[in-house]
Amino acid sequence: MARSSMHGHWSSRLAFILAATGSAVGLGNVWKFPYVAGENGGGAFVLVYVACVLLLGWPVMMAEVMLGRRGRHSPVNTMRILAEEERAPRAWTLLGWLGIVAGFLILSYYSVIAGWTLAYTVRAAVGVFDGITREGVEQVFGALVADPERLLAWHTIFMALTMVVVARGVEHGLERAVRFLMPALFLLLLLLVGYAMAQGDFARGVAFLFKPDFSALTGQAVLAAMGQAFFSLSLGMGAIMMYGSYLPQHASIPRTTFTVAMSDTAVALLAGLAIFPIVFGEGLAPDQGPSLIFKTLALAFGHMPAGALFGSLFFLLLVFAAWTSAISLIEPAVAWLIESRRMRRVEAAVWAGTVAWLLGIGTVLSFNAWSGYTLWGRTFFDLLDYLTSNVMLPLGGLAIALFAAWVMREASVREEIELPGRAFRLWHAVLRYVAPAGIVLIFLNAVGAF
Ligand code: TRP
Repeated sequence: MARSSMHGHWSSRLAFILAATGSAVGLGNVWKFPYVAGENGGGAFVLVYVACVLLLGWPVMMAEVMLGRRGRHSPVNTMRILAEEERAPRAWTLLGWLGIVAGFLILSYYSVIAGWTLAYTVRAAVGVFDGITREGVEQVFGALVADPERLLAWHTIFMALTMVVVARGVEHGLERAVRFLMPALFLLLLLLVGYAMAQGDFARGVAFLFKPDFSALTGQAVLAAMGQAFFSLSLGMGAIMMYGSYLPQHASIPRTTFTVAMSDTAVALLAGLAIFPIVFGEGLAPDQGPSLIFKTLALAFGHMPAGALFGSLFFLLLVFAAWTSAISLIEPAVAWLIESRRMRRVEAAVWAGTVAWLLGIGTVLSFNAWSGYTLWGRTFFDLLDYLTSNVMLPLGGLAIALFAAWVMREASVREEIELPGRAFRLWHAVLRYVAPAGIVLIFLNAVGAF
């Protein structure tokens, strides 16, 4: 097995861990996790989310990295190569295509929300939040999203930043950025948790997050928890497969993926611990949706000492975290354009970024001009978010589990996953039975099949 990737390799196991953590930790942890947990009643949702990370997410992540490292190409070509090798139908390449489509859809709105974060970095730095009131935070947020030109400008800046890194090749620069910026973000989150303890309603926030109320747990909430687990771990669309394709042959897949999954979950839970005590302390509604952290954090930074400094630093670090995630969302498409369309990297990055940028205009407008157009009570942005997280990513994860556990010969799998006998059999059984059954049952439960 001596394939190697034409796009380069990570210099070490640590480089992969950093890059994959950079992909996993982003807006999904700090922005999405709190608002989705808030919309789905807290505790029971969080419990299901953590169970999904451990029982579905981690096993599927091992499989996704394994496929990438074995195929050493973009997900489309990796699936073609592996399907040939295992004498399976060529239709498995559809998994790669599903991922490319999902990547574009997610990046299109991800960039818009990262744009809000950029806007908040500037607002925090110039002192807009100093001493701000509850009405004030509503007003600042409302004014931002009501203005399509402003949103478009920030979205454009963020997408351009993403294209620049992708054009240069992911193995340059990313490593160093993640090594310093992730720990810094982690520290600032700890500071915020400290503030939430001192100034917020900490007891109520903790109870909301960790005291499960199973009566609040609908089929849709369980589906949202699974979707959040896939989204937060960057699973199911080929991003982690792509990063796996750059992984050195000697690195242990179980260990590296475990580190990534645990760091990601820790950041999400910390974000929840920082946000909810402030939400309850200030009498905000936990279920107000995507604006939740922007309002809550503006209040927190507006009232802490040196809030302008800490606030702008925090939002800036969140922009970096979003950046390292956004890169992984188009890397599969870019790698495919290079491999199969013979484009240069720069050209491929500009094409892919432009497509995602254009799609993003729909999300920009869904907060203002198009906010009245809804389907099943959802705006364009809500639909994209729902379709990608709750449908496409779990479907991708299901296909990955089925391919790795049922289509690939066990001997091929054993070449990649170096686990002692018992542990290997356990993982393989989880991937064969538990993960596919879990995903299918959660889907069926959510559509009310039982
Ligand atoms: N996991 C990232 C976050 O939590 C977002 C992300 C990056 C992603 N790459 C992905 C989500 C691939 C799904 C699939 O912010």
